Amino acid sequence: MDDGPVVVGISGASGAPIALRVLEGLRAAKCPVTLVASRAGLDVVREETGLDREALSGRADAFPDDNDLGAPIASGSRPSRGMVVVPCSSTTAAKIALGLGDTLLTRAAHVHLKERRKLIVVPRETPMPTTLLRHLTTLSELGAVVLVASPAYYLKPRTIDDVDRYLAGKVLDHLEIPHGFYRGWKAGEP
Ligand SMILES: Cc1cc2nc3c(=O)[nH]c(=O)nc-3n(C[C@H](O)[C@H](O)[C@H](O)COP(=O)(O)O)c2cc1C
Repeated sequence: MDDGPVVVGISGASGAPIALRVLEGLRAAKCPVTLVASRAGLDVVREETGLDREALSGRADAFPDDNDLGAPIASGSRPSRGMVVVPCSSTTAAKIALGLGDTLLTRAAHVHLKERRKLIVVPRETPMPTTLLRHLTTLSELGAVVLVASPAYYLKPRTIDDVDRYLAGKVLDHLEIPHGFYRGWKAGEP
């Protein structure tokens, strides 16, 4: 059996450029991608990047509708290399933590938890309300990686894109996909 795709979920939090960088890194690594985006996710992608659904579809091998609960990624019988929800809204984090899988994105996240596969969530909300902190704690306890969209100031980013590339690189690190998006602290030194 092949390893299947990496599943990329885009929900309606701010941070769409990070998702675009993740998709770019997966494509550069020739890794198959299934993309799923909530309705709010598509709205925020358009707001922050100007891209519509059609433009996004060229960046993935499959892009099923979020209402399509019959898509392959809705079933644990289909393999995948892991899933990242980037960016992850407070609503989507709550749904995944509480076991609500009424959309393809949230169902696919549940599949990853139940099959004990890699799940990474990238929340972007500040300040974080107690409800979100509780849901993120639950997700972490369930085995998900909570990769907060926060910059590494010690790497001295000069542009927002430097921050996006760092965060996308961290996501790819956790998916064990090689990339050239950022150089770590004191790179080149033993
Ligand atoms: C421009 C814009 C930015 C938003 N940023 C955030 C955010 O950073 N974090 C968040 O949790 N929700 C954010 N929201 C609100 C979510 O989009 C909204 O709660 C939505 O219902 C989430 O739905 P989803 O989880 O199905 O994608 C934002 C909405 C808009 C329009």
